[in-house]
Amino acid sequence: MVNSMTFRKTAVSSPPDAETAIDFTRSIPPFPALLPEQLGRTLTEFAQDPQFAMSLRTGLPGGSARDRKAGAQWLSSRFREEIAAERVVVTNGTQGALLLLLEQFVGPGGLLLAEELSYAVLQSLAERAHVKVKGLPLDAEGILPEAFEHACRTDRPRALYCNPTVHNPTTAIMSETRRLEIAAIARHFGVWLIEDDPLGRLHPDAPRPIAAIAPDVTWYIMGVTKCLAHGLRVAYLVAPSPASCRDFVEPIRRLSHWFPAPMSTAVATHWIETGTAEQICSAIREEAIIRQTLAAEILAGADIASPRGAMHLWLRLPDRIGRHDFAARLEQRGVLVRTSELFAVDERPCPSAVRISLSSPLQREDVARGVAIVGAALTG
Ligand SMILES: Cc1ncc(COP(=O)(O)O)c(C=O)c1O
Repeated sequence: MVNSMTFRKTAVSSPPDAETAIDFTRSIPPFPALLPEQLGRTLTEFAQDPQFAMSLRTGLPGGSARDRKAGAQWLSSRFREEIAAERVVVTNGTQGALLLLLEQFVGPGGLLLAEELSYAVLQSLAERAHVKVKGLPLDAEGILPEAFEHACRTDRPRALYCNPTVHNPTTAIMSETRRLEIAAIARHFGVWLIEDDPLGRLHPDAPRPIAAIAPDVTWYIMGVTKCLAHGLRVAYLVAPSPASCRDFVEPIRRLSHWFPAPMSTAVATHWIETGTAEQICSAIREEAIIRQTLAAEILAGADIASPRGAMHLWLRLPDRIGRHDFAARLEQRGVLVRTSELFAVDERPCPSAVRISLSSPLQREDVARGVAIVGAALTG
């Protein structure tokens, strides 16, 4: 049943056509009613604290000790072990953290490996860091270890960027065995792993991060974009060790463009410390499960990949339907989706597929309506 009681419409104004379109292109998380309520309460508490304003006096590279401790606490349940706060760097989002990692660990002219379909901004970030990117083939578990090993032997990469838990865009989840294999190859060839885990907190049954299995070779990032709110602009970066964490921050400690904003970080820290973050994350998870179940029911029989509670679906199209025709047909009917080549990191051919982000529409009814239009477009 479609129930919109728990989710609110906001008063954000959009361009006229975007107003009516059901936009499945962006993976913005659902917005639980709990979030604005909690934000109001938190800001009132801040206003009543005479010391609070002092925290805005200056930003800090990597956040305050308290912010880093809260980050470590937030990630510990994902890692299934305690993480030392001295390994955590707080940044103003995953993209900022990724750019810093590419600059420090790959460098101009260096090669970064990545899943052949990947986070759509990876290419732009790599260009800004003057880094080359090469894609690696995927199966239902993500990167093929033999392809990674071959590329390490022949191409001398400096790092591998990967998104092993509910991969964007294919939703692949890497098994623990595969994670171990990838880590062993990285260790053998001296290649850094950059693990991006934006959805990890929303999938408690997923295997532990590679960073928990192989901390020595992995730089791990979890932004709060999916599990709390995109607009907070906070991400936690976990270094292999306290020493490597210090070495990472040292050359960039005077460059404030990547510092987390103290106001946002104070909210995230407070929410983690008080358990509010857990409540918001659970509400997002519940809504994601409802939407994904609903979509999987409507699209029963179609070739979709979508683990339980995934925020997006990967729809592989039958041979008779071209992906661009399909997306154009949907657009005419008021539904926007992303075609596979938008995720390609290099020039290799793409599968005929589209990504459908179920999380962006504010109303669950719009998800149901949009997915029904997708289903109808598949058959006629
Ligand atoms: C793979 C991946 N990483 C990270 C992010 C979020 O990045 P940020 O923390 O900069 O909002 C997204 C958002 O769409 C994503 O798909």
